[in-house]
This record gives sequence, C-alpha cells and structure tokens, in this order.
Amino acid sequence: MKTLFISQANALIDDTLPSISNISNLLSLCFYEYEAINWIGLYICDSKKQECTLGPFQGKVACTRIPYSKGVIGKAIRDSKTTIVNNVHAIKDHIACDSQTNSELVIPLYNKKKEIIAVLDIDSLLIDYFDDDTVETFASIASLFETLLV
Ligand code: SME
Repeated sequence: MKTLFISQANALIDDTLPSISNISNLLSLCFYEYEAINWIGLYICDSKKQECTLGPFQGKVACTRIPYSKGVIGKAIRDSKTTIVNNVHAIKDHIACDSQTNSELVIPLYNKKKEIIAVLDIDSLLIDYFDDDTVETFASIASLFETLLV
C-alpha cells in the first residue's frame, strides 16, 4: 500500500471547505499520482431511480447516466463489492466512455447505514493494471471519499 500517498491524501482534506472542494482536489491528486490512470471519478447513486449519474472526475468527458442494470459499475453495485476488470475488451457488459481504457476498478461507497451512495470508478490505459497493492491503496482512498460524501 502506498502509505505516503495516503498520508498526502489525508493531509489534503481541509475540514473548513465544502466537501466538493476536497473531493475535487483528492481526485486530482490521484489522477496525477498514477500515470497509467486515464480516468477517475465518482458516480452518484440514486437507488429509487436505480441509476448513477456522473459526479466530479478527472479525465475525458464521460457517460452521464449508468443504470444499475448495466456496465461494470452496475455489476459492482448489484454485487455490493469491489470489482476489477483486467481487460475491459474481454467482457460484454462494459460501457466504454474512453476507447483508450483497458482495465477498470470500481469501488462502491456507502454511508453509515451501509446504503450505497456512490461508486469510485478508475480506468487504466494498461491491461491488468489493478494489482492487490493498488486496489488496497484505492480502498483506503475510497474510505476518504465516503467521509466526504456524507
Ligand atoms: N466503464 C464504466 C462506465 C463509466 S466510464 O468508465 C467513466 C462501466 O462499464 O460501468
């Protein structure tokens, strides 16, 4: 796990700021720390509508609505678990927002009542990019986003 990076991420949070400011800076920190990441952002969940909508992100223009029934994000929400796709071209149910993406990590984010509130979606230019260490690091970053989103 990248402990120094996680310390930097924690140090970046300024409690006197609105959450959106901290979320935006945190996404930028992640995006520029990892050269092989071409997109990182949040999709905000609406369980009544059974869909997510695009939240703050770094990267190219992305899909704005993702139903819970579709894509890697939908699967991560339905399964309630961190989902890694080592090669997005090898699965049918991948929603391609950027054709350069080759692998993807989706981490569901919850409130204190364990209800889904958002997902952290991360795309990489490389196949097989998300190893255990990288996933562990982003799991820690995901907890930070959870605290910022409540
Ligand atoms: N690939 C995602 C869609 C979001 S973009 O990657 C930003 C999916 O299949 O759900």
